[in-house]
Amino acid sequence: MNISAFMATSLDGFIARKDGSLDWLDHANALVPKGEDCGYSEFIEDIDVIVMGSRTFGKVLSFPEWPYGKRRLIVLSSKSLEIPKHLKGTVSCSRETPEALAKRLKAEGAKNIYVDGGLTFQSFLKAGLVHEFTVTIIPVLLGDGIRLFGGIPEDISLDLLSEKHYGFGFVQLRYAIQKPKQ
Ligand SMILES: NC(=O)c1ccc[n+]([C@@H]2O[C@H](COP(=O)([O-])OP(=O)(O)OC[C@H]3O[C@@H](n4cnc5c(N)ncnc54)[C@H](OP(=O)(O)O)[C@@H]3O)[C@@H](O)[C@H]2O)c1
Repeated sequence: MNISAFMATSLDGFIARKDGSLDWLDHANALVPKGEDCGYSEFIEDIDVIVMGSRTFGKVLSFPEWPYGKRRLIVLSSKSLEIPKHLKGTVSCSRETPEALAKRLKAEGAKNIYVDGGLTFQSFLKAGLVHEFTVTIIPVLLGDGIRLFGGIPEDISLDLLSEKHYGFGFVQLRYAIQKPKQ
């Protein structure tokens, strides 16, 4: 089973402003040529389960359309979240630890897990469960916001798998974790 992430960050490492807003990303995306998705559709094609933090889930619910179709999605939350009726067939809520959830999904035969949300990604990374991640660096400095990376108990060594530079200023880096736990 492979656990990965696909994130866009400001050059100074933020995935959203403090209040969760993504206006800076929308602004940057407005300059991207039509039809270019910086590898997102290729990435998501192989994903069978998305694991998302409750804050990111809240944000996605505010989008005009549900972007994940019939793909299975698990929202991590310590609270009992209200899942909209039309999503109940594919979206469920869990309060499992990253370790317990990864173990369960593996036993269920999941192949490719996508973890989304800053804290969620960090908790999987800290638990040694992430295998690889792709960061698309947007040419903007935000100064403050929600971080992609947080504190870790020990260094995490990475292998650079690929790098891509887009004409409109985005730089995409894909890394593998050198020693994932499973
Ligand atoms: N730029 C990008 O590519 C990108 C990608 C994804 C998200 N975002 C943005 O990032 C923001 C949200 O990120 P975030 O870091 O604040 O939060 P997050 O990871 O989306 O959600 C964190 C919340 O999930 C719940 N949770 C339950 N179990 C957890 C666990 N094991 N690990 C972590 N969280 C767990 C907790 O909330 P409870 O109180 O419910 O327990 C926690 O506060 C949003 O604005 C979103 O739009 C940006």
